[in-house]
Amino acid sequence: MSQFKKSLTCAAVALGMASQTGFCMETDTAPTTQPQSSQYQQTENAYRQQAKALLAKMSLDEKLDLLAGPGMDLTTYAGNPAKNLDPKLAVEGVAGYINGVKNNHIDIPAIKLADGPAGLRIKPTRDGTEQTFYATSWPIGSLLASSWDTDMVEAVGKAEGDEVKRYGVDFLLAPGMNIQRNPLLGRNFEYYSEDPVIAGKMAAALVRGVQSNGVGATIKHFAANNAETNRFFSDSIVEPRVLRELYLRGFQIAVTEAQPWAVMSSYNLLNGKYTGQRKDLLTDVLRNEWGFNGLVMSDWFASNVYGLATDFKRYITDADHHSAAMQIKAGNDLIEPGGLKDDLQASYKSGELTDADIDRSALAILTQIQKTPSFKHLPYDNNPDLDAHAKLARQAAADGMVLLKNAAHALPYAAGSKLASFGTVQINTLKGGTGSGEVNSAQATTIAEGLAEQFKVNPQVSAYYQSYWQQNKHDQQGLLSKFPMAEEPAVAGNSELQQLIANAAKTDDAAIFTIGRQAGEGEDRTNSRGDYLLSEHELALIDAVSKAFHAQGKTVTVVLNINGLVDTHEWQDKVDGILLAYMGGQQTGYAVADLLSGKVNPSGKLAQTIPVQYQDVPSAKGFPGQPDKHNPDMNIVNYDDGLLVGYRYYSTKKQPVAYPFGFGLSYTQFSYGDIKVSHNSLNQQGAAGELSVSATIANSGKVAGKEVVELYVAAPQTKLAKPAYELKAFSKTALLPAGKSETVQLKVTSQLLASFDPSRDEWIVEAGDYQLYVAPSADVSKVKPLTIHVDKEIVVSHTTHGALAMVK
Ligand code: BGC
Repeated sequence: MSQFKKSLTCAAVALGMASQTGFCMETDTAPTTQPQSSQYQQTENAYRQQAKALLAKMSLDEKLDLLAGPGMDLTTYAGNPAKNLDPKLAVEGVAGYINGVKNNHIDIPAIKLADGPAGLRIKPTRDGTEQTFYATSWPIGSLLASSWDTDMVEAVGKAEGDEVKRYGVDFLLAPGMNIQRNPLLGRNFEYYSEDPVIAGKMAAALVRGVQSNGVGATIKHFAANNAETNRFFSDSIVEPRVLRELYLRGFQIAVTEAQPWAVMSSYNLLNGKYTGQRKDLLTDVLRNEWGFNGLVMSDWFASNVYGLATDFKRYITDADHHSAAMQIKAGNDLIEPGGLKDDLQASYKSGELTDADIDRSALAILTQIQKTPSFKHLPYDNNPDLDAHAKLARQAAADGMVLLKNAAHALPYAAGSKLASFGTVQINTLKGGTGSGEVNSAQATTIAEGLAEQFKVNPQVSAYYQSYWQQNKHDQQGLLSKFPMAEEPAVAGNSELQQLIANAAKTDDAAIFTIGRQAGEGEDRTNSRGDYLLSEHELALIDAVSKAFHAQGKTVTVVLNINGLVDTHEWQDKVDGILLAYMGGQQTGYAVADLLSGKVNPSGKLAQTIPVQYQDVPSAKGFPGQPDKHNPDMNIVNYDDGLLVGYRYYSTKKQPVAYPFGFGLSYTQFSYGDIKVSHNSLNQQGAAGELSVSATIANSGKVAGKEVVELYVAAPQTKLAKPAYELKAFSKTALLPAGKSETVQLKVTSQLLASFDPSRDEWIVEAGDYQLYVAPSADVSKVKPLTIHVDKEIVVSHTTHGALAMVK
């Protein structure tokens, strides 16, 4: 039976209430066809037709229930009971619901929505049962992106989506894909990159993987949500061209390549208006220009101060009572977690909200929810294969960690070597960030445990840290939960630690020092000691350990188990190895050990630049914004760095960096050969044209490894000023044995090549010479480019006149 027919059979069950108890026993997955294919369009049309039939059987009141979610109790953060939720099928710990509908003609169950970006966030235990409901804690988004491996990210998405399905959830509230505009953004860990092509390709891969299970993915937070400070009252002021080329481009790629079932609008205002209330953003651009077919939901309580807790009541104006209606009119179909039905009713009575507005959003919701397991009454077993997923999580974690420094081939340390392991974070290993991106996993391996599996770890040093940790750990408050931390011990005046260092330098082969940083939702980080800058104690330990080990001709490696970046320039010269481990999820400890021992050859590369110092970041001065002159409660974030974010800035302004975007070391070497334009139909086919560059990558070293190959394009600066060059495509080779090679293809569509011309509301590829750099990182200074010529300007697509402009 085709997927198309299956879905109609299940819809018929729901429509006719053929059997209120009879399940539609479909166990297969949703269509995985390409969004561009006619089969996808046909299936989507069928869902839409069926949605119309369902809508015809619903009252106004029921339609409003659909649009306004059930709400959430802010004192407990528990969801209110959703309409038509069978208590036996409730999943504790989900973030929200879509109300169900039950009348004489239809029986649509409540639909369950759960976070998040690094794994399914549900409550792991329930009253009255011994059974547990743990999920896999996957590597954070920044680490997944540093793999540059879309196949691997799709595999992670597939496994994560399997847990969503098996735990009875319908929509995953992930992936997060905002641009890492500034290294201090508290939620950077959930996001992929400073570059929209990586962010878009990673999100598309994750969405494909999740949705192959017949559950929905939700790309978020749409859009220009690049600071956490005062997040409900923060206005991102961004020029339309910059928006389209940087902050929306990743979303555009994810929508066109993977058609997520849902988009989540963001908390912030954009150019003077809440994103959830911007029709130009949610309807003109997202739906009409990009062809998005899914539903749009608000972020929790977004665009809607009225729905917030009492602390926010002082901000309420009359206008806020209309905010629910304004969201629906803009194309924000679903208000989460909801509870604003009264407002919607009032707006309907006053004529502000029309039947057409309501039907449009209800149709968008009904079209998507027909695909869900709950709608289809699919049984679920609460029994994902967590062991198999743990294996994949270990591979994924090792695939994306980045080896930044390896002086004189200090690494790898042979398995069985004697290591002295310093730092409290080897015990308090951070698997992920805080907030809605947290995951309740059954287990998590610490770096101490990971090292012990493959090395002989100095027992005295380990015992010292165990006891120091037990005595000094204290809880810090994250947005949703507390997490333990401890400051590193001082070296000065600490004869016990000094003696341990001196002894270890004699007996052991090398030293490891693990440094950690936690951060998360609701707060940005600071450029201060103990946060972006290393603390005095951390710097002192690096000094002491390096002096002692170097005096014995031995090496020191720093492992960064961090949520976002930290400064490296103060201390990087003092150590031999630096491994940027980010947060690898529950398998962090094993993955770190796999890379240090060479069991896995590092192949991750940076998806964000590490600047020499924080002050070099182009948005450093303005981040995270300033209070509005007229309304001090409102934070204004001026995106005056324009298009020059990350490597676009450093390369254009020739500003030195500590580690360039796209950079990462391996234990082998690769040579690039036979680089050529393998296809170029731009001049013949214009907007439908494509460019393809091929390169043969050979492993010229001694051990097997994978190489990430990057294509940067320098476009002519004829009419529109552009960054010096921009990433347009990338590819990762398979694991190449020493001496073997692989030819990769780097494909660029005209849309991806194009710049946005705001004066004409058009995406254009300007005429002239384009330099193509096939490079191992964004430092292309030693790369000889290929040149192609575009004979005449190509207008790739037209956009909505005046969209995304400032609203006053
Ligand atoms: C976050 C979203 C999340 C939602 C539900 C919000 O605070 O910004 O990313 O999906 O909560 O937990």
